Amino acid sequence: MSTQIEINKNTIQYLDLFGYKNDKNINQLVNETKKLGNVSKMQISAGQGKFIEIIVKMIKPKNCLEIGRFTGLSSMCIARGLPKGGKLYAVDNSREFIDIAEKYWKIDKVKKNIISIIADGKDTMKNFLNKKMLFDFIFIDADKNNYLNYYKLSIKLLNKGGVLIFDNMLWGGNVTKNTKDKTTKTIHDLNKFILQDKRIDFSLLPIADGVSIIRKI
Ligand SMILES: C[S@@+](CC[C@H](N)C(=O)[O-])C[C@H]1O[C@@H](n2cnc3c(N)ncnc32)[C@H](O)[C@@H]1O
Repeated sequence: MSTQIEINKNTIQYLDLFGYKNDKNINQLVNETKKLGNVSKMQISAGQGKFIEIIVKMIKPKNCLEIGRFTGLSSMCIARGLPKGGKLYAVDNSREFIDIAEKYWKIDKVKKNIISIIADGKDTMKNFLNKKMLFDFIFIDADKNNYLNYYKLSIKLLNKGGVLIFDNMLWGGNVTKNTKDKTTKTIHDLNKFILQDKRIDFSLLPIADGVSIIRKI
């Protein structure tokens, strides 16, 4: 029997108050993104951003890649954790929210470490592979139906010991249900694929919508 607790409303409130240090720039970016309406749901949570920032600070990656920038919160958190000379390639196939992202990267003094690419995630990863570019840290938070493709490309693009984080790996809890929904099935299939993959170590954590942290052996 697992000692994993059920995360109810009270626990979520507690985590919001005591789960991470409150941060002015993150709060402002979250508030500005909220004003965009329904799309704001795409943003990672502030606590998740702080988690990613700490992971990046621990692994000190020189070369990072992110697929799915949106208004730039995850990019900002990754860039904060970079060591001197470290770089983040932040990829999104849409230009729509780049102004908000760049505004906050500037406020947070991380813009100089972020190379923004407006292009398809898979195509960009294939280009990096062709150029023999390797990464120490990759964060994937884009179109879910490509998650298995992103995983396979990420493993090729990671240095030995490199770390990969996937967001939304519990997909609102739907992965536990027997459903025909295509996105749910893709994410569940990826969870099964990761579980049997001998090239990596991993842990699927119940942070926000489920975060898989994967280390290439
Ligand atoms: C969930 S949001 C990312 C949220 C972001 N990580 C944050 O912290 O706010 C997903 C993003 O992936 C982008 N996207 C969707 N399909 C894509 C593709 N094929 N290639 C690159 N980006 C894509 C969308 O434009 C959107 O901005």
